[in-house]
Amino acid sequence: MNLDLFDEAASHQPPRTEQIGPQTFVLRAFALPFIDDLLPPLRAVLKAAPFRRMVTPGGQNMSVALSNCGPLGWTTDARGYRYTGVDPQTGLPWPGLPQSFLRLAAAAAAQAGFVDFRADACLINRYVPGARMSLHQDRDERDFDAPIVSVSLGLPAMFQMGGLQRSDRALRVPLLHGDVMVWGGVDRLRFHGVLPLKEGHHPVMGPQRINFTLRKAG
Ligand code: SIN
Ligand code: FE2
Repeated sequence: MNLDLFDEAASHQPPRTEQIGPQTFVLRAFALPFIDDLLPPLRAVLKAAPFRRMVTPGGQNMSVALSNCGPLGWTTDARGYRYTGVDPQTGLPWPGLPQSFLRLAAAAAAQAGFVDFRADACLINRYVPGARMSLHQDRDERDFDAPIVSVSLGLPAMFQMGGLQRSDRALRVPLLHGDVMVWGGVDRLRFHGVLPLKEGHHPVMGPQRINFTLRKAG
């Protein structure tokens, strides 16, 4: 299959909403109208806080490289997972959260029924072919009242959306450039992950997938 063509076709689809749980939604192509306002600030963020691979508390090198912007940024090292106000690599505050990211996050959350979502943390993940994220819950935030808004750019990925128990069967959701997933409320602690990224070249993003996850962490 020619993934570039597949994606081209997808990028001309109008936005549409798929509900895959009581409070879990896939907003197809939702980020596309925002894209021209997302990429320049994304580049600036990554210049100030470049992607780096982090180590899990268990000593594993993550295959996904990450960065953050916003008042709080998610990090991991031998001491554990946590949010910090500064980039441990530079000792400087994480770059600011671009207005366009905040606007997209609030609009996507509202579309999924979560009003007044104000993100204070944005984790940026970079997947190259072979990179994956094993099933986990997002539970390092202070409370779980706010939803998770997750924006996919670049190469297609196979997202896994599981249940509230690790052993629950996970639904496979293909995520394409511009798709946004939102989950919260009763679904806030669902296990989720990403299968190893397949090789490819995306016309806009190149040979990679970039995901950003907007959260209210503090
Ligand atoms: C995450 O759970 O932090 C990343 C999810 C994704 O890359 O789609
Ligand atoms: Fe996550």
